[in-house]
Amino acid sequence: MIGVGGGIAAYKACSIIRRYVEDGHQVRVLPTASALKFVGAATFEALSGHTVSAEIFEDVPHVPHVRFGQEAELVVVAPATADLLARAANGQADDLLTATLLTARCPVLFAPAMHTEMWEHPATQANVATLRARGAVVVEPASGRLTGADSGPGRLPEPEEIAALGQLLLERPDALPRDLVGVRVLVTAGGTREPLDPVRFLGNRSSGKQGYAVARLAAQRGAKVTLVAGTTAGLPDPAAVKVVRTTTAQQMGEAVVQLAGQVDVVVMAAAVADFRAKAVSATKIKKTGEEPEPVILERNEDILASLVATRKRGELPSDLTIVGFAAETGDERGDVLFHARRKLASKGCDLLVVNAVTEGNAFEVDENAGWILGTDGTETALARGSKAAIASRVLDAAATLLSRSE
Ligand code: CTP
Repeated sequence: MIGVGGGIAAYKACSIIRRYVEDGHQVRVLPTASALKFVGAATFEALSGHTVSAEIFEDVPHVPHVRFGQEAELVVVAPATADLLARAANGQADDLLTATLLTARCPVLFAPAMHTEMWEHPATQANVATLRARGAVVVEPASGRLTGADSGPGRLPEPEEIAALGQLLLERPDALPRDLVGVRVLVTAGGTREPLDPVRFLGNRSSGKQGYAVARLAAQRGAKVTLVAGTTAGLPDPAAVKVVRTTTAQQMGEAVVQLAGQVDVVVMAAAVADFRAKAVSATKIKKTGEEPEPVILERNEDILASLVATRKRGELPSDLTIVGFAAETGDERGDVLFHARRKLASKGCDLLVVNAVTEGNAFEVDENAGWILGTDGTETALARGSKAAIASRVLDAAATLLSRSE
């Protein structure tokens, strides 16, 4: 079920509906009467393939105000206005959507959208707290341009982000607890680009999806998140996350060093280039003759390893949790786990998330599988699942370490 509140962001619900329909879900749209002032019922009907009404007293013989909630496997309310949050928190059932919210026993996700003043008002915050205490997920809004000239927290997160969070709840209904409130998390994501000349670079296939999923989920679990992003497949900034953009491995390293002292957890999900060109040509390299000029490479700093070394020297807090990522294949020397255990030992991080690279795992795809290895000897298998589901497991493991060091 997609509930739509009466705010200007109601049109963005259309993208969420479309995304779920394209993924093969049966979608029912439940707009409020005010939502229908922004987007016509015909649009929702065409997108979902079902009739749409805000009224309880329509199609009464089929008892829709009870049936929709009972049948739902997921309810996503986007945008959730201040008024809609208030009515839901009060348990009102004065339209089809709020009645459905009372009968639904599946995961319910509210994506608020309103002006900053309304979002920050104690009444709204109390309603959000009530809904969360009852088990609903109330998404942190994004910051940015609001309806007028003003900007601040209260913007609806990108439709694809809301759809992904809802999809995660279908996979794992308990994936978004508020267990990271007060925790500061630094995540790196994406690939790096090492320039060769003004137009060419050495890069890699990392899309950034895994690291973005970690950052997005950490923020939605209540953490204060900074994302140091390298190059990505054009991913939108996750809501409620501060994004620092970098291009080369050196820039990423500098950003991480600067920020690592101010956080509790560092998650190094970026695919950082191990080498860079020793000399970057100031002008475009020309093809002269048949033989190409060799490109001489030199080592980049291993950011993860140097974080561990800095902590060891006492220049970073001893309770800083450091999480590394590795993509491994087996070879004649050993299987994926063999290589992963060696990497955990050599890097010295607290957790190593291992992607088992097979056809369709790890790069530019939406699913992964592997293990999370801990220096304490724990080895948790990660069943094949979305990058969001993997991210939620990674945060579970980090949260467990944090609770031990408290
Ligand atoms: N990493 C880093 N700085 C680098 C290279 C990698 O911080 N210069 C981090 C990545 O963010 C990731 C982990 O190290 O968390 C990956 O380990 P790495 O040794 O780079 O993996 P591979 O490049 O696959 O190494 P190898 O080829 O030795 O298997």
